[in-house]
Amino acid sequence: MAKIDMNNFTSDMTAKEVVRSDRKLRIGIIGTGGIANSHIASYLKQPDVEVVAGADLIPGKAAEFFKSHEVEAKDFTDYKEMIDTMNLDAVSVCTYNCTHAECTIYALEHGLPVLLEKPMTVTLEEAIAIREAEKKSGKIVSVGFQPRFDANMQMIKKIVQSGELGRIYYVQTGGGRRHGIPVSWSETFIEKDKAGLGALGDIGCYSIDLVMNALGNPKPLTVSGTATDYFGTTPEAYSQVGKPECAKKFGVDDFASAYIRLEGGIILDFRIAWYMHLDTPGDTIIMGTKGSLRIPSTDCWNGSFYKPMTIYHDVAGEPVQTEIPLLPATKDLFDLKIRSFLDAVITGGEAPVPTSQIIYNQAILDGIKKSSDCGHEVEINIPEM
Ligand SMILES: NC(=O)c1ccc[n+]([C@@H]2O[C@H](COP(=O)([O-])OP(=O)(O)OC[C@H]3O[C@@H](n4cnc5c(N)ncnc54)[C@H](O)[C@@H]3O)[C@@H](O)[C@H]2O)c1
Repeated sequence: MAKIDMNNFTSDMTAKEVVRSDRKLRIGIIGTGGIANSHIASYLKQPDVEVVAGADLIPGKAAEFFKSHEVEAKDFTDYKEMIDTMNLDAVSVCTYNCTHAECTIYALEHGLPVLLEKPMTVTLEEAIAIREAEKKSGKIVSVGFQPRFDANMQMIKKIVQSGELGRIYYVQTGGGRRHGIPVSWSETFIEKDKAGLGALGDIGCYSIDLVMNALGNPKPLTVSGTATDYFGTTPEAYSQVGKPECAKKFGVDDFASAYIRLEGGIILDFRIAWYMHLDTPGDTIIMGTKGSLRIPSTDCWNGSFYKPMTIYHDVAGEPVQTEIPLLPATKDLFDLKIRSFLDAVITGGEAPVPTSQIIYNQAILDGIKKSSDCGHEVEINIPEM
C-alpha cells in the first residue's frame, strides 16, 4: 500500500495566534454546566483573558462553578443582567440547545461576539435569526466545532479540495454508539424543551460537519429523513448508568437517518445513533469520479480519528489503495477553538467556524426533523443573507 508524505500537510487553522498585550479580554460564560468546564479551562490557559462573570438559570450553580475552578468572578442567574452590567468583551454560550438562539441574539444585540456551542440551534428559523442579528451587530459568532481544528479533518478537506478524488457524487457519513444515551452528567440532553434534538443535535452535527467542511459547504436542497425514539423511551436503555427513570423524560431522537441532495448533484447519505444493536452503522465514505476516500468510523463520532484513512483509486489502470496515516494532535483541540475565537475578536477577523457555513448543517438537521414529522421529503429554503 502506498504511503503519502505527511510533511506535505499542514494545518491552516492553527497557524496564527495573536495575544493582546494592552489589556485582558473580559469574558462571560452563559450556562455553567458540563461543557462550560472545558471553556473555562481553556480560557484560563490564555494570558490575555480573564473570565469575569458567569450566568446559570439554576441558582447557585454559577457560583459553585467558579469555586470549583478557583476563579474570582461574579455569578448571575440572569444572563441579561450579566451582559448589561459586566462590561464584557465576549461571551461563550454553553447553554442547552433550546436557549442557544436567545442568549446569542441578546449578546449580539449588546455588541458582544459569541463563541456558541454546537449544534448552532435547534431549528433553521433560529439559525436564520442568529445570522440576521450577527449581520446587524457586525460582531462574530463562531460555532463550537472543535474537530475542525484536527489535522486529520483538515486533511480530509485538503484531499477533497485538491481534486484528487475527481468530482464527488456520493457521500455517506454518520456513526453512533451501541449503548450511549448521554445522561451520566446531565439529563438535559434527552429533554425536548431543553435539547430539542437528540443524537441528531449531539453527535449527528459533527458527522455532517466532517463532510460538509470537506466538500466546501454545498447548499443542501432537499431532505428525506427519519428521527426515531425506540430505545430512549425504555428503562432498559439506561441500565448501564442505573437511571431507568430517564425513560419517562426522553423526548428527543435516539436514531436518525436521511438522504440529502446537495448542490452540485452530490448525494449525502446519513445515519446517527445514540443506541443500536450494531457496532457501527458504517464508515464515512466520499466517492468521486477519480477516487474514493474511506474514513473509518469511531464508536461515537465525537471528532476523534483512530485508524488511518484510505484512498481507493486506479494507477495505470490498476486498482490501488493509498493509506493516509493518522496525523498526531500537536495541541488540544478545545484550546485551539478558544484561541482562534479570541484571535478573531482581537483582530476583528472572520469567525473561525462561521455561521455562514454552519447554517447549512443546521438546515440539514432541521430538514431531517421536519421530514420525519411530515413523513415525506422536504425542500430546504435558506434566505440569501
Ligand atoms: N463541543 C463539545 O465538545 C460539547 C460537548 C458537550 C456539550 N456540548 C454542547 O454544549 C451545550 C451544553 O451542554 P452541557 O453538557 O454543558 O449541558 P448542561 O445541561 O450540563 O449545562 C447547560 C447549562 O446551561 C444552563 N442554562 C440553560 N439555559 C440558560 C439560560 N437561558 N441562562 C443561563 N443558563 C442557562 C442550564 O441551567 C445548565 O446548567 C449543548 O448545546 C451541547 O450540545 C458541546
